[in-house]
Amino acid sequence: MDYLEITGPASLQGNVKISGAKNAALPIIAMTLLANNTVKIGNMPAVVDIKTLLKLIENLGGTFSFTDENSVEINTCCLTNTTATYDIVKTMRASILVLGPLLSRFGHCEVSLPGGCAIGQRPIDLHLKALEQMGAKITIHAGYVQAEAPQGLQGAHIIFDKITVTGTANIVMAAALAYGTTQITNAAREPEVVQLCEILQESGVEITGIGTAELTIVGREQKLIDFVPFDVIPDRIEAGTYLCAAGIANSSITLENVRHDHLEAVTGKLEEMGFTIETTPHTMTIHPTNEIKPVSIITQEYPAFPTDMQAQFMALATQANGTSTIEERLFENRFMHVSELQRLGADIKLNGHTATVIGPSALSGTDVMATDLRASSAMVIAANIAQGTTQVHRIYHLDRGYENLEKKLGDLGAKIERLKE
Ligand code: EPZ
Repeated sequence: MDYLEITGPASLQGNVKISGAKNAALPIIAMTLLANNTVKIGNMPAVVDIKTLLKLIENLGGTFSFTDENSVEINTCCLTNTTATYDIVKTMRASILVLGPLLSRFGHCEVSLPGGCAIGQRPIDLHLKALEQMGAKITIHAGYVQAEAPQGLQGAHIIFDKITVTGTANIVMAAALAYGTTQITNAAREPEVVQLCEILQESGVEITGIGTAELTIVGREQKLIDFVPFDVIPDRIEAGTYLCAAGIANSSITLENVRHDHLEAVTGKLEEMGFTIETTPHTMTIHPTNEIKPVSIITQEYPAFPTDMQAQFMALATQANGTSTIEERLFENRFMHVSELQRLGADIKLNGHTATVIGPSALSGTDVMATDLRASSAMVIAANIAQGTTQVHRIYHLDRGYENLEKKLGDLGAKIERLKE
């Protein structure tokens, strides 16, 4: 297995180009199951999770080809199979995103239960309950969701008990080919869901309420969609990660190809900590502060502070002058980076879903382990300012969602190398 060797402390300077958003690209790839044409997608991030979902599309009988490293054309006109098997779904739970489109288009499908992951049990009960409301017959058998809707899905009024990002995406896609109109109350408003709705709308699906918690979708009665070509939006979490990398290293860097309007909660907290952020329509520049102030963070659904930035801010908070508190409200087990940061010398106390970080603490390099995707990036940015050499192991987590991280960070001045165990 690969690991990263990072020697700190290192300051950062220069520009970094932000890649397309993994969490926008995944529902978009699932959306191609609704297509009547070959779908042309640009700014596709070259990360493992994307490759995994494309392999699933291929297993279903779809085809894809990359016209360059970040541009792909996907065709699902001749699907031969509607079963998403365990071997793929177990490696990437967002595979559940094929459930809604497959069921709505074909009237039947089998999708392996995704299972939990390191950060939590991650149930899909809300996805399934909504599809049942749309007329699906759902049974769970031998670890698979078996879904039937032989007459197609019917529009319904779905009220989500909890805001669910992929749940909203699944139902939007299912509703696009349903018979009748679907209203979703308490819909997720994440930019990744907004882009999915915008592409569907630009391709002829009647959708109103985009960007709000109330979505209305007029079903096309299983008439497939001719999609317009488009580029995936920039990855707001990758962008936030690099902002934290610069902040913790008291450095100034510029992010290119970024949507700062997707990062307002994140930049608000960085400014509270003393950093200055300059923006233009497609760039963000962070400037260091002579004293990093402590911060209080609660993770919530968009547009509030994102859970996917929690670990990175915990790393940053280790260098704040005072006591920071971080409350994780979305996932039940998203603090596994705490013990790894403590190995570097961080002073963090856990009490249920709240971490208290006392800073500043001098960090020293040692062996640490990546435990999930975003925790991995937190370890990397902390290692970059730790005194000495750090080995970050199990970086397959990192490769799922960060494109060329060691090259991007290396080009900014970090001493970082990918080695083999
Ligand atoms: C999406 O996961 C993201 N993944 C996650 O990013 C992100 O952390 C999460 O949204 C929250 O923003 C993708 O978009 C591929 P949820 P998702 O359904 O959709 C509970 C990353 O690092 N829930 O919004 O799976 C659930 O347990 C990943 O890129 C139910 O109870 O998250 C959680 O507590 C990690 N029943 C809360 O809702 C359900 O049926 C939010 O989950 C569905 C969800």
